[in-house]
Amino acid sequence: MGKPKVVLGVSGGIAAYKACELLRRFTESGHDVRVVPTASALHFVGAATWSALSGNPVSTEVWDGVEEVPHVRIGQHADLVVVAPATADMLAKAAHGLADDLLTNTLLTARCPVVFAPAMHTEMWEHPATQENVATLRRRGAVVVEPAVGRLTGVDTGKGRLPDPAEIFEVCRRVLARGVAEPDLRGRHVVVSAGGTREPLDPVRFLGNRSSGKQGYALARTAAARGARVTLVAANTTGLPDPAGVDVVPVGTAVQLREAVLKAAADADAVVMAAAVADFRPAVYAAGKIKKKDGQEPEPIVLVRNPDILAEISADRARPGQVIVGFAAETDDVLANGRTKLARKGCDLLVVNEVGERKTFGSEENEAVVLGADGSETPVPHGPKEALADTVWDLVAARLG
Ligand code: CTP
Repeated sequence: MGKPKVVLGVSGGIAAYKACELLRRFTESGHDVRVVPTASALHFVGAATWSALSGNPVSTEVWDGVEEVPHVRIGQHADLVVVAPATADMLAKAAHGLADDLLTNTLLTARCPVVFAPAMHTEMWEHPATQENVATLRRRGAVVVEPAVGRLTGVDTGKGRLPDPAEIFEVCRRVLARGVAEPDLRGRHVVVSAGGTREPLDPVRFLGNRSSGKQGYALARTAAARGARVTLVAANTTGLPDPAGVDVVPVGTAVQLREAVLKAAADADAVVMAAAVADFRPAVYAAGKIKKKDGQEPEPIVLVRNPDILAEISADRARPGQVIVGFAAETDDVLANGRTKLARKGCDLLVVNEVGERKTFGSEENEAVVLGADGSETPVPHGPKEALADTVWDLVAARLG
């Protein structure tokens, strides 16, 4: 098998320079990349740069090397087309099937998965014309990554930034790995909770846990690559980059996590509770730092129960047919405890993994069994957290019908 063939379309926005980083990630990981910029993109980054970085010829028009019929060949032979940045103009052309340069011709001839990473000013992104074009492209099976929120060109800040190239690369890698032209979660809204809650004792101390958030982030990233709109409720996951195209809601405590999950779940098709939620919190929060007192025993910490969010959303579904997934970390009698927990929580699926000192926490890999309320049992062999995430979404997609 040769190298996977990737077409990197670049349209004319200031974020074009970030596509160099995306290109480098593709070439360094063994992809054959053909960069197809628009004429306007060359105002930002020149053809020499694209050609040198990709090791392939670069042209914007269909009139170069006509004997090789590039306007048809490039698209036909691609395993993936990614347009980053995609301007409002490019989205409009793609949605309407215009073909006035090499990139737009390529988009019409490609039969592989197509990913758009839009970048533009907030007003242009929010304009009904752009939103309708995005909806059209998604309906046809393209993955359109939501822009990030942040600093835009000039003094403006808002939604419209090109997501981090490393994260766009992750979306592309997932789309390529699955090799599907039809993102099976498109049109779906999914909510994922990730990380571990922290329950403050005083302004400097908290009760917490060792969850890194990596499994939840893998779930968010894979769902976005499968076309879903994703809300990621992230508890204390500082250090993990926001996955491309995912709305991240940062929270600290179990009570805050509950509020954010309930709000996002109101219109969600599925909720996956991957966060490690503290079952208890200190009954009293000391407004000032708790001090040690010479000659005195420390005060015991009194705890109160936190709400069980998974049980609550399972018992009182925000929408009929909403699929709810829980996680269980167990140290002993893993399967038996998992079955009991599934019944007690009332969710549809429970991902049970064995934890211990060196297992799961903070690692890149995972091994689990997914138990279904219908009695099913899906073992997931030791492997990347994304493989487990994909199995979870396979089972969710099957239940959504
Ligand atoms: N969970 C939750 N709210 C809580 C505690 C846990 O929503 N207050 C969710 C977690 O996100 C996870 C699942 O419930 O999806 C399992 O959590 P776990 O802590 O393993 O189960 P517990 O109910 O706490 O059972 P035990 O401590 O007895 O193992």
